[in-house]
Amino acid sequence: MGTFARSAMTTVYTKGVKPVIFKMHPDKVHDDMITHGSWAQRIRPAMAAAEALLKHDDPALVTEAYDLTLRNPLGLAAGLDKNVAIPGILQMTGFGLLTFGSVTSRVCDGNPRPWFHRLPQDESLVVHVGLANGGVERVATRLVELREQGNPRYMALPFKMSIARTNDGHTGDVAEGVDDYVRSVQALDGLSELIELNISCPNTMVGEAFTGPEALDQLLTAVDDAAPAQPIVLKMPSDKTWEQFRDLVDVALDHRVAGLTISNLRKDRDSVTMDPAIKGNLSGRPVRELSTEIVRRTYLHAGDRLTIAGLGGVFDGSHAYDKICAGATLVELVSGLIFRGPAVVGTIAKELVELAQADGFARVQDAVGSRADLPVATD
Ligand SMILES: Cc1cc2nc3c(=O)[nH]c(=O)nc-3n(C[C@H](O)[C@H](O)[C@H](O)COP(=O)(O)O)c2cc1C
Repeated sequence: MGTFARSAMTTVYTKGVKPVIFKMHPDKVHDDMITHGSWAQRIRPAMAAAEALLKHDDPALVTEAYDLTLRNPLGLAAGLDKNVAIPGILQMTGFGLLTFGSVTSRVCDGNPRPWFHRLPQDESLVVHVGLANGGVERVATRLVELREQGNPRYMALPFKMSIARTNDGHTGDVAEGVDDYVRSVQALDGLSELIELNISCPNTMVGEAFTGPEALDQLLTAVDDAAPAQPIVLKMPSDKTWEQFRDLVDVALDHRVAGLTISNLRKDRDSVTMDPAIKGNLSGRPVRELSTEIVRRTYLHAGDRLTIAGLGGVFDGSHAYDKICAGATLVELVSGLIFRGPAVVGTIAKELVELAQADGFARVQDAVGSRADLPVATD
């Protein structure tokens, strides 16, 4: 039933919905998704029915990570729902873990619009949001309300809260940045299963101030001192040399960091055809092999001392399986949902089981790192 429903949903999306929404401006599509999703998720029986049709459950998918037992290794990456507006809709798609945010300590308007530009031929979205969000206090209040409502249809899944540095005219030196992150960490203490520190947003006024080893060490020392209840995960950059990246991994290993999410939007535009005047950085296919190769090298370097979530251009089961075999315990996606539709999560889950079992693994998690000795060809 699930396979038939997902196949029908994919046909409806790719032949009916996508041609219509891809004619609309992507900023409007995103805004409409949040507005309409906020009320649609209130129709709880419909959400439950959709989830039952879309998800793919299999004992072979159950994944242990960060002391959590997840129904599958697939996570929603940060960025789609910054203010925890549509958790009921996102849960319906069949993920094992959700990420909300990035949020910042101050309310943040982000960059001037437009925020998004599609590159359909390259299966990529150019993103230039600049961390627009309603601020951590509002999100913390929302999380407390959702918890107090005790609404299992909204928040049944484990989730990460992604925190970034506020991107506005008040941004100061490294010490100010550390303080900014720590205020968000304190506001979200205990309100999620995990906290992800987004140190790698490429769309900000001051750049990525915490992707150098010294600044990262200062930040992580302060976060260690803040001692939130949740494990800390770092969202890593895409456009570093391996040596620069490895230095950041080594800093993470010196602190209370449980895992790395690899990786963020890509700045390098060589692999796509686009108007140079368009502002922003690339999601989707241009990130795919690059991030898989960074996952592989990180796994070889850090072994099981860090739990890796691999993401970038995951549109089908083979893309997800490549990241797992390279060393990722978890696989996340955003662009796959946009380009392939909401049935993509269940489809990937099913394909993952088939791929792992064809290689002789009883569980998908048994395949983690199984091809880490084979370099990934990158463009
Ligand atoms: C619409 C959109 C918004 C994003 N916003 C954020 C964000 O707020 N924080 C963050 O860490 N990453 C953000 N990202 C980056 C994604 O989390 C992810 O790292 C990147 O898009 C690669 O994954 P994908 O190819 O599956 O999209 C955003 C990506 C997209 C497409």
